[in-house]
Amino acid sequence: MKLWFWICCFLIFKSMRTEERNFRLFIDQVNITHVDPEVYESFDCKVFQFNNRSYLDSSHTFKYTVTNLKVHAVLDFWKLKSRQKMTLFDVQLDACYLLDNASKNKLFNIYIKNLRKHANTKFKCPFQANISYEVQNMTMNEQDFPSFVPLGKFRSVIEYIIDQKLAARVIASGKIVSHPPDP
Ligand SMILES: *[C@@H]1O[C@H](CO)[C@@H](O)[C@H](O)[C@H]1NC(C)=O
Ligand SMILES: *[C@@H]1O[C@H](CO)[C@@H](O)[C@H](O)[C@H]1NC(C)=O
Ligand SMILES: *[C@@H]1O[C@H](CO)[C@@H](O)[C@H](O)[C@H]1NC(C)=O
Ligand SMILES: *[C@@H]1O[C@H](CO)[C@@H](O)[C@H](O)[C@H]1NC(C)=O
Ligand SMILES: *[C@@H]1O[C@H](CO)[C@@H](O)[C@H](O)[C@H]1NC(C)=O
Repeated sequence: MKLWFWICCFLIFKSMRTEERNFRLFIDQVNITHVDPEVYESFDCKVFQFNNRSYLDSSHTFKYTVTNLKVHAVLDFWKLKSRQKMTLFDVQLDACYLLDNASKNKLFNIYIKNLRKHANTKFKCPFQANISYEVQNMTMNEQDFPSFVPLGKFRSVIEYIIDQKLAARVIASGKIVSHPPDP
């Protein structure tokens, strides 16, 4: 139901991509918890702000070959001046399937393309052991969002589930604020 809401949004904003965006998405904090030391050699993620924009760097190295990766993603949103929490989506996805078949899924293709642009190597199952999978200087493009995004705060929780076990949890918080588009 909530996912359909986003798919509908996507279909609407796809036709509006040239319209100006008067908002910007900032990521304030990213925390990683529940890192399973049997799965990860390392898992780091940091956010930095540069020229009024948030950028992400992340790297992960697995201890063994990962062939089964699922992702549980929750996005909560608090509209400006409202204390009420809205859960925009709460879904479990097969990351191996999506990374392999991104082009078939319009909703995720845009994000996976962005990931590829900033990745040091191909993100695809099986993920090899002892290779650092890195993303550098990744940012969100307002054009990839609907033109009518409400202002407010968000919190996203992404759980990486490897072989049916929680392997790491990434919690990010941020906001959508009014901001003039880049000239
Ligand atoms: C950052 O945003 C502020 C307020 O909107 C603006 O005055 C400033 O020029 C911006 N700086 C850059 C580098 O875009
Ligand atoms: C991608 O889709 C094809 C065709 O539906 C399927 O055979 C393949 O297993 C999918 N890839 C993954 C990694 O699930
Ligand atoms: C990964 O590196 C560790 C330590 O260098 C080594 O013991 C292990 O065999 C390596 N694993 C693979 C799959 O290459
Ligand atoms: C990150 O990207 C921005 C905009 O594309 C660029 O101006 C900046 O130099 C990049 N920073 C690094 C550390 O690559
Ligand atoms: C990240 O961790 C710090 C320190 O524990 C905490 O103060 C902050 O609220 C956390 N941020 C998120 C988005 O969970």
